[in-house]
Amino acid sequence: MYLDKKIADSIYYVGVNDRQKELFENYLPLPYGVSYNSYLIVDEKVVLIDTVDVAFADLFFRQADAVLQGRAIDYLVVDHMEPDHAGAIGLLTQRYPNIKIVGNKNTFDFLKGYFAVNPENLVEVADGGTLNIGQRTLSFHTAPMVHWPEVMVTYEPSEQILFSADAFGTFGALNGSFRDNELDLTPFWSDMRRYYACIVGKYGPQVQKAIQKLSGLPLRTVCPTHGPVWSSHFSEVLARYDQWSKYETETGLVIAYGSMYGNTQLMAEAIARGAVDSGLHHIVMHNVSKSDASYILSDIFQYKGLIIGAPTYMNGIYPLVASLLHKIEERGIKNRIFGCFGGHTWADAAVKRLNTFAETMKWENVGAVANLRGFSTETECYNLGKAVAEKLLA
Ligand SMILES: Cc1cc2nc3c(=O)[nH]c(=O)nc-3n(C[C@H](O)[C@H](O)[C@H](O)COP(=O)(O)O)c2cc1C
Ligand SMILES: [Fe+2]
Ligand SMILES: [Fe+2]
Repeated sequence: MYLDKKIADSIYYVGVNDRQKELFENYLPLPYGVSYNSYLIVDEKVVLIDTVDVAFADLFFRQADAVLQGRAIDYLVVDHMEPDHAGAIGLLTQRYPNIKIVGNKNTFDFLKGYFAVNPENLVEVADGGTLNIGQRTLSFHTAPMVHWPEVMVTYEPSEQILFSADAFGTFGALNGSFRDNELDLTPFWSDMRRYYACIVGKYGPQVQKAIQKLSGLPLRTVCPTHGPVWSSHFSEVLARYDQWSKYETETGLVIAYGSMYGNTQLMAEAIARGAVDSGLHHIVMHNVSKSDASYILSDIFQYKGLIIGAPTYMNGIYPLVASLLHKIEERGIKNRIFGCFGGHTWADAAVKRLNTFAETMKWENVGAVANLRGFSTETECYNLGKAVAEKLLA
């Protein structure tokens, strides 16, 4: 069956949907699946931009063959060496032993480690370097740490297409079309924030650098390695990536807590009530034992307010909350209005840890409530919720 793969004149989508994998990078849930996008440019030379996860190599080659009708691939451009894109390089070079591989110095350092490639087939490009393929000349622009050090993006000037690697990507498989204007984008917007928060959220300054650097290129279409091909909605995607990479937020509050026997949870309920009574209506509550951390991080990237609670556990903080704190620290999340709470029976460690955490993050800590042996701290909690909400609404 012929499936329409055309993006522009002689440029084709040859990616695949992964609807099987439970966890991306073996820890991030994929409720809507994910796509590994790859693209073909058919000019005097045939150029493939990135490959796919090796598990999908067979389907991928069939897609490419359907477009190529017997022509060989002359060049592979490796924009990113992570195995969700580079995974099929070994099989590709077996199929096309003379294929030239285009990358930068970092790309080739990585590539030579993971694949047996013929050094004579490597075409090294510098930042801003070009490659003529017939009617077109592609240019390459490094975007280090979006999301690995070797990442570059590839620009095709005649159609003004940017092949953007992981930048502007999102989780979510493509339901019937790769074109943004043919898809229901509703599930993509929230999964895009979760993708951003978990995959590139640590590298906000580098994403900002890449956005500035690419701002000079006229763009009609942006082809990332995951999710829809953006044309009609690219400005919305760019605005979101710009906002998140500046750690800019909306007015709202995340309350994330751990609780074994319900005491800490009761504190969380009182905090939420206080926040609502102050007029704050965007409140998300997460029980860390139930919500996957990727969803909590995604909401933390959205909202300016964050209140975290945990019981003291074996002289430390409840382990699932410890793990959440680690994930937040790793991402260097800036500029939050914070509060904390927790319970203990003989000596508090959790609230101490949460106060230290706020200092490390250089956040404004509005208040802490430590509950001893379940004695009611409802009023203190309610007031903490109110105080944080008032700051957020000020
Ligand atoms: C396995 C376990 C370990 C605990 N370790 C400590 C501790 O080291 N120090 C302390 O003061 N309380 C400790 N506690 C008591 C809890 O921190 C306290 O009861 C807290 O209010 C429980 O909150 P929760 O009902 O939200 O789970 C421990 C409780 C459990 C179940
Ligand atoms: Fe990646
Ligand atoms: Fe990726």
